[in-house]
Parts: sequence; C-alpha cells; structure tokens
Amino acid sequence: MAKVKTAYVCTNCGNDSPKWLGKCPVCGEWNTYVEEVISKDTNPSKGGFHIFDSPKAKPLLLKDVETGEDPRIDMQDGEFNRVLGGGLVPGSLVLLGGEPGIGKSTLILQTVLGLQNIKTLYVSGEESARQLKLRADRINSNSENCFIVCETNLEQIFVHIQNLKPDFVIIDSIQTIFTDTVESSPGSVSQVRECSAAILKFAKETGTPAILIGHINKEGNIAGPKVLEHIVDTVLQFEGDQHYMYRILRSIKNRFGSTAELGIYEMRQNGLREVSNPSELLLTQNHEGLSGVSIAAAIEGIRPFLIETQSLVSTAAYGTPQRSATGFDLRRMNMLLAVLEKRAGFKLIQKDVFLNIAGGLKVNDPGMDLSVISAVLSSSLDISIEKHVCMTGEVGLSGEIRPVNRIEQRILEAEKLGFSKILIPQNNLKGFTSKVNIEIIQARKVEEAFRQLFS
Ligand code: TYD
Ligand code: MG
Repeated sequence: MAKVKTAYVCTNCGNDSPKWLGKCPVCGEWNTYVEEVISKDTNPSKGGFHIFDSPKAKPLLLKDVETGEDPRIDMQDGEFNRVLGGGLVPGSLVLLGGEPGIGKSTLILQTVLGLQNIKTLYVSGEESARQLKLRADRINSNSENCFIVCETNLEQIFVHIQNLKPDFVIIDSIQTIFTDTVESSPGSVSQVRECSAAILKFAKETGTPAILIGHINKEGNIAGPKVLEHIVDTVLQFEGDQHYMYRILRSIKNRFGSTAELGIYEMRQNGLREVSNPSELLLTQNHEGLSGVSIAAAIEGIRPFLIETQSLVSTAAYGTPQRSATGFDLRRMNMLLAVLEKRAGFKLIQKDVFLNIAGGLKVNDPGMDLSVISAVLSSSLDISIEKHVCMTGEVGLSGEIRPVNRIEQRILEAEKLGFSKILIPQNNLKGFTSKVNIEIIQARKVEEAFRQLFS
C-alpha cells in the first residue's frame, strides 16, 4: 500500500508546509495550519490531474484569436446581468459567496428557473430534491429545463454531466463536494481546490458556464483558500443583514466586467425581488421633526441612492462610553467623533454614541461621512434636520469636507426624489453643467455645514 502523504496547509492562503507552523510565513496569519492528506497514491498515472495531457491546445498569435461577438447568456434578471457585466459569459466559472442563510441558493434557483431555454443541472450537496422542490414552489416558478441531482462526489457529478450534457451547471456548495483523488474531508483546502480546478477545466474545455456556491467564514472571506478566488473568473458576494430584507449582490472580481457594479434585492415570502430604485425603498419613513436623522446621498458601486443615517447620543451609564455602528465602519465613526470633538468643540467623551444605517445595508462610500457626523450632532443637540435636505461629503481629519466622486449622479438622484437642498463639498462641482431644480449648498468645513443645518 502506498504511503499516505500529508502536509500542513494554511487555510487562509493555501500555502503548504511539511510541518505545523504557528504563523504562516506567506500571509502572516496565526494558527491557520491544518493537517491534510495530499494524496493516497503518489503514482501520477492513476488519478490526479495531468498537466501535459491536452494536446488540443496550441499557441496562437493573439491577433488570430477569434472572439466572436461575445454572446452572453441573458440571466433574465436585470440586477444579476448588471453585476456580471452584461450577462453570463459562456465557459466562465463564477463563485458566489455569502453567509449561510442569506439566500444564495434562493437567488440561483430562482435565476435558473427563469431561464426557459437553457438546460441546467443543479447539483445540490446540501439539500434534498424535495427541499429544492418546496423552495421552487415557494418561488412559484417551475421550469421545463432544470434538472436537480443530489450528489457530492465529483466523479459522479461528471458522469451526470456527461449523460445530461447541460448548458449550465450549478454546484451548491463547493464545500460539500469531494473528489476521490484527494483523501482529505470535503470542505478542506485541498478538496475545494482540486474540485474547483476540475470544474474550471470542464467549463473552459466545453464552454459550459458554471456557478459555484461557497460559504463565508467568520472573517468574511470565502471559506477555503484564497487560491479559489484566483482560479475562478468572477467572484460575487451576496450580503445583507439577516434581520432585514435587503440583500446586495456585489462583484468582487470580474474578468468580464466592472467590479463597481451592484445588484439590490429584497427577500420576500416568494423569493427575491429585484430592486431597481433603492432610494424609494430606503426612504419610506417620515422623519420630520426627529433629531438624529440625516439623509445621505450615497453611491454604492456606480449607483446613487439616498439613505437614512440614524444616530443616538446619550449620557454614558458606565465609565467607558459605548460606541456602536451598524452598517458603517466603527473605526471611521470614531475618527468622525474625534473630528467633531476637536474641530467643532462638542464634548462626546462622556456619551454613548449609536449609529445605524437604515435598511441593514452596509455602505462603504466615504461620501457618507458628512451625513454621519450631522446625524450625531443632531442627536447630541436634539435639533432635527429639515426634512428636504440631504448631504454628501467625505470628512477629513482637520474637519474639511473633501470632494466625492460622481457628484452629478448624487445631485440628480436627490432632485429626482424631491429634495429641495443638498449640501456638497466645495469645489466639487467642476464640470457640472446640468440645470437642476434643487438648491446646492457648498461647504468647505464641517462648521460651515453645521451652520447651514442647525441655524
Ligand atoms: P437560502 O437560499 O437557503 O440561503 P443560503 O443558500 O445562502 O444558505 O435562504 C434561506 C433563507 O431565505 C431562509 O431564512 C428563508 C428565506 N426565504 C424567504 O424569505 N423567502 C423565500 O421565498 C425563500 C425561498 C427563502
Ligand atoms: Mg444554500
């Protein structure tokens, strides 16, 4: 019997080492090494993937490579198409990551059920066919062309693919699939890597697109090695707060499109619904006369939307005041509080500060700063901000308001939604020529903005 060969593999970056290490020398993470069986048989003629077994490929001059007119597959879902960069590219491998229960399986099942003329094979390693059928009934959609198979063995999956010859393959999820050529358990670094590589090879050779669903670990990375993100063509992330109904589909890497794209969905009783106009949903509450609320004209990806920022400032009950932020970076909030304290003279040292971005969305746009700082001040002073005012601007360490990108889009979105005033950074309007029906106020420093808002 061949000797079982093991190695220690870093679960973060996939680096391997013959002995256990406390700290990975490549990525610097601590305590990420786990022992894995590499192969039970080292003889490459049995099993394993060969490097030189494909004489079909031969070097071509780049100018001779035919591209065709890039016939993308229409996913019948505006948001999904947009995030993919205009539809799914044949032969591409897409990785969809997200926390458990966020709705990955729902999104994909709903999408494939909407594809009427494309024969799809949905490989489920997590749910039974009955469960999938129940979900399809909930989504209220049934397709003539969607085949389901509950299988976790990669070799068996390829047998099914060979028999069925599908046009589109879904693997739900890559962490449950295992191949016989690697002996470690499903979900381990080497299994995930081998299986993905095999599926990639299949996708490229046959031109069949495939989607891999993957879980996210505690740190928010897609579980399994980073190499997985390198081998696939597109990495999408489905995120949102479990307690809210909004979900964001984000593109983290895309070989065939921009990563600035973003799709917004709403989780309903009967599946996910595309949200084509996010602002209207995020601004349904009437906050007139309420202190601690301000409206930000934000951009996520390349889409503008107006979003409510809520804050509560109260006297701290304990020695150390609490600082908490939902949907916003806590460190950034602390920085903004320091600016408020230093530049505008508001003593927040004995105060608890809570911040919340409406709808459970996580917004990374620096243009949110002005709105955050204004909401905090509004709550602290207990003075409400006028209802028809919104704002955008990045706040710098010395209290200056710095220009933001895509100011035009922000202004036009605010105008479209009926706002009468927008506060923007000074010198941000260069090249902006459109005639708008909204009062534009420019501010250079936070003090100026506060004077506009609270006097
Ligand atoms: P699921 O797709 O199973 O998540 P994942 O594959 O990412 O683990 O989604 C499960 C959640 O979605 C579950 O909590 C119930 C909710 N859901 C709805 O609210 N409406 C629906 O129509 C469906 C199918 C699911
Ligand atoms: Mg699932």
